[in-house]
Amino acid sequence: MAENTTTVAIAGGSGFIGRAIARRLSRMAEYRVRVLSRSPSQARVRLASIRADFVRADVTDPSLLEAAVRGAAVIVNAAQFDGYPVENPRLGLTFERIDHLGCTALVEAAKAAGARHFIYLSGVGADETSSHPAFRAKGRAEAAIRQSGLNYTIFRPSVVVGQGDRVVSMLTKALRFAPAMVLPGSGRQQLQPVWVEDVAACVALALTASARVRAQTFEVGGPERMTLDELLNLIMNITGYRRPIIHAPESLMRLAGAIGEKLPRPLLSRDAVSFLMLDSICDTKPLVEALGIKLTPAREALAYLATKP
Ligand SMILES: NC(=O)c1ccc[n+]([C@@H]2O[C@H](COP(=O)([O-])OP(=O)(O)OC[C@H]3O[C@@H](n4cnc5c(N)ncnc54)[C@H](OP(=O)(O)O)[C@@H]3O)[C@@H](O)[C@H]2O)c1
Repeated sequence: MAENTTTVAIAGGSGFIGRAIARRLSRMAEYRVRVLSRSPSQARVRLASIRADFVRADVTDPSLLEAAVRGAAVIVNAAQFDGYPVENPRLGLTFERIDHLGCTALVEAAKAAGARHFIYLSGVGADETSSHPAFRAKGRAEAAIRQSGLNYTIFRPSVVVGQGDRVVSMLTKALRFAPAMVLPGSGRQQLQPVWVEDVAACVALALTASARVRAQTFEVGGPERMTLDELLNLIMNITGYRRPIIHAPESLMRLAGAIGEKLPRPLLSRDAVSFLMLDSICDTKPLVEALGIKLTPAREALAYLATKP
C-alpha cells in the first residue's frame, strides 16, 4: 500500500449505497477503504473480494467510534437502521437515534480523530423543523455537521436504485408473484430515481473536487422525474412482467400503518405511509455543475432487470 493513500472510513459501508461507495473507492489506488460495521465478518462476506479493512462500529455506541475512525482522513456516513423506513422504537430503531444522534456521534468521533472531510448521505426533504421524524432527524444531523467546524459535503438523494436496492427490488419481486400490483396512494407521487453508481461517483468526485464541494449540500437525483406509476410501468416494460395496478387509498394505508405499528416487528407504520405518499424530487443542476457528473437515465440504471433470475 502506497504511503500517501487516504483512509476513508464508511459507516454503513455494508449497506446498499455504502457498498457501491466502498467498491468504487477500493478500485482507486489513492484510497484505503475502511468499512465500519456492527458485524465486520458479515460485512466482509457482503463485500467479498474488495480491497478494504473491516472494523467494528455502532453509531449508537460512541465509546467505540473514535477508535474505529482513528487515522481516517475522510468519514462517510451511509448508516441506516434495519427496517427503514418503518421505525421500531422498542428496539431503538428510530430516525432520531440512528440518523440524528448516530450522525452526531460520528461527527464527534471524526473531530476527535482529526478527520478533514465528513460526507453524509442525507435525503431529499431533510429539514430540522419538519413534523415527520425522518426529515427532522436528517435535518438535525445536517445541522450537527454544519456546526461541527469540519469540512463537509452533504448529499441528499431522491430514491436510489440499482441491484440490491429497496424499492425496485420489492416491486420486481411482487411483480413476479402477485396477480396485481398494489401501490400506496394515487401512484402520482413524483420521484427522481438515481443510480446507486452515480451516488457513489458523486462521493468519489467530492473527495477530489474539495474546493467546489466544501461546506456544500447537494440534492442528488436522476436526469428524469417520473411518477410511482411510471416507475412501475418502466419496471414492467424492462422485465416483461405485466400486472394490473391497484391504488390503495391513503386512508386505507394509514389504517394498515396503525395496525402494523402494534406488531412486535412492525412492517408498516403511519409515518412510513406518509413517507411513501410524498414526492421526492430535486434540483440536480448545482450537483452537475460542481462535479461535472453525467447522471444515468433510469432505464439504463435498471437494465439489469431484463436478465431473468
Ligand atoms: N436507499 C435509498 O433509496 C436512499 C434514498 C435517500 C437517502 N438514503 C440514505 O442513504 C443512507 C444509506 O442508505 P442505504 O439504503 O444504503 O441503507 P441500508 O442499505 O439500509 O444500509 C445501511 C447500513 O447501515 C448499517 N447500520 C445499521 N445500523 C447501524 C448502527 N447502529 N451503527 C452503524 N451502522 C449501522 C448497516 O450495516 P451493518 O449491519 O454492517 O452494521 C447497513 O448495512 C441512509 O442514511 C439513507 O437514509 C437512502
